[in-house]
Amino acid sequence: MRVLGIETSCDETGIAVYCSERGLLAHQVYSQIALHAEYGGVVPELASRDHIRKTLPLIRRVLAEAGLGLPDLQGVAYTAGPGLMGALLVGAAIGHSLAWALNIPAIAIHHMEGHLLAPLLETRLPSLPFVALLVSGGHTQLIEVQGIGIYRVLGESLDDAAGEAFDKTAKLLGLSYPGGPALARLAEQGDPGRFYFPRPMTHRPGLDFSFSGLKTHARITFQTHSQPLLPEDPAMRQVRADIARAFEEAVVETLTLKCRRALQETGVATLVVAGGVSANQRLRESLDLMAKDQSVQVLYPQPVFCTDNGAMIAFAGCCRLRAGQRAGLAFEVRARWPMASLEPCDVDMG
Ligand code: KG4
Ligand code: ZN
Repeated sequence: MRVLGIETSCDETGIAVYCSERGLLAHQVYSQIALHAEYGGVVPELASRDHIRKTLPLIRRVLAEAGLGLPDLQGVAYTAGPGLMGALLVGAAIGHSLAWALNIPAIAIHHMEGHLLAPLLETRLPSLPFVALLVSGGHTQLIEVQGIGIYRVLGESLDDAAGEAFDKTAKLLGLSYPGGPALARLAEQGDPGRFYFPRPMTHRPGLDFSFSGLKTHARITFQTHSQPLLPEDPAMRQVRADIARAFEEAVVETLTLKCRRALQETGVATLVVAGGVSANQRLRESLDLMAKDQSVQVLYPQPVFCTDNGAMIAFAGCCRLRAGQRAGLAFEVRARWPMASLEPCDVDMG
């Protein structure tokens, strides 16, 4: 089955075709970074308008790359939430109309389920149940996955998501949007011993997270250490790098500790890590060490499929369409959408 995937939940237009027999046939991601950079964050109305401009040309390009025409498609999957309403509406309206015009089924996909299944673009479904750490710009969640569509939330962020904390701290350090990867690069020059940031909510039981205090900690540290220095002073750059390093280490250690705790509490032997922050090298190194120590397996998507993309939506759509699930004639998008409310999907993708 060949499924077109459309991702437009935030600031990336992602299009792909996934085939249940041959795997990923083609994919393209158009990033709106340049459009939003001057505002320091995503401007929802600009995002929607740009998705309108880019989605159809990108679909044409992906089909050409795959050597396919529209009649070769057997299903269309689109992200229906969570995300920005206007942005979601663009992908949903295009995906739904295309499916209707081609007389093929459409399926609405949960963005975070797309992230969660992204490692399966290359690996077989690990034995169930497994634990998933989803770390993106909008979500930080630990989930026990009992099957595709059967998700038990073990813990989540009570305030900022990990990616959001990266972005806000990066902005404070004068780095351009989206700050996560830029902060990670700056942290490489930081002295790990200079500042120590708290590891929030690690000294009490539970699997929830709280990252908003870290950016406040970063702001206070920055104000305290930057006052006597001029912006162009090399010592100033070092202060910023040292803060970036301390911040990154605090987030990484907190996420690692909670993953270890989730694996121990559930007795599960596989951890899947996905979402934009799973591209972070230091996080991967730390989780790999923990996994070795605990004799568990850890799986990640390849870096290009950590951040938003159409391939993960096409894959999730393929699973659900093959299980016989379909969207009705009316479509709906949701800014918020609890993962635990999804329909189970019994399908063998081997
Ligand atoms: O999954 P994603 O592309 O979009 C959402 O669903 O939110 O995640 C984007 C987030 C941003 O906050 C970005 O700064 C962060 O992932 N991110 C990173 C890295 N790459 C992306 N954070 C830390 N280190 C990275 N290498
Ligand atoms: Zn995402």
